[in-house]
Amino acid sequence: MTEFLKAYSIQSWLESAPQGYLEHTQFGHPEGEREPDRLLENPQLRDQAIGGCVQLVVGERCALAASSGLVNAAPDEASKRFLATQTLDEARHVEIFTQRLYDLGVKKIELEDVLSQRANPNLVKFAEVLLEKVDKKDFVAGVVGQNIVLEGMAFCVFEMMHQGALEQNPKFAHTLEGTIADERRHVGFGENRIGTLIQENPDRKPEIQAMQRDMSTHMLLAFNALGRGDDEQSQRTDELGVRILHEFKIRLERVGLEYQAPLGS
Ligand SMILES: [Fe+2]
Ligand SMILES: [Fe+2]
Repeated sequence: MTEFLKAYSIQSWLESAPQGYLEHTQFGHPEGEREPDRLLENPQLRDQAIGGCVQLVVGERCALAASSGLVNAAPDEASKRFLATQTLDEARHVEIFTQRLYDLGVKKIELEDVLSQRANPNLVKFAEVLLEKVDKKDFVAGVVGQNIVLEGMAFCVFEMMHQGALEQNPKFAHTLEGTIADERRHVGFGENRIGTLIQENPDRKPEIQAMQRDMSTHMLLAFNALGRGDDEQSQRTDELGVRILHEFKIRLERVGLEYQAPLGS
């Protein structure tokens, strides 16, 4: 527990993130970097980038609502403090991806309309399944849903986007790097904290596994919709879905839960 307390303390968060890899960043990237001209000047590419970034803002808003809600559901002080740092991380993610929408040409006054019109409905359902548990102050289910399922997915999506942006868009690649480092810490907390809680509450397993199955089902439907109409894109999102489900399986087994395949797959 002492190592756990140290690794997830506010002090170590300060040293590694704000005073570490986030130092000298502005909205997540070095000052002066901008979106590439070839993206800004091509209406189709710019529109695609906006559509993708909207999903990131929607996912991060869900993570912000979940992590802040879980502060008051947490059974111990160390978890409350960690979740307070996570709340700030998620608020930062919402802010930097929203800023990217502005950089891509979305007007501030249009933001909420663009988000509600372009958010993938299955991603919204995915978020609702999690937030329902958080609203009930169900800490064990909330942490599995957030720090294992939602963030396991985010981690893989960010890594894929990072690969794609490395050469084409250093500004976005740098923005993603800080986010990936944050998500790694969040996923680590989930795995470390939840294993013991599952052991202490074995009767909760079936219900939590059903939540994971429902979230995975919505996630795959969201990916199907994002890949529709473009064979190459569709193959990429299919592969990503398979990879994420495989990650879920490994992470869930580590905390003593049994992975449930999504419905209809
Ligand atoms: Fe996040
Ligand atoms: Fe996160």
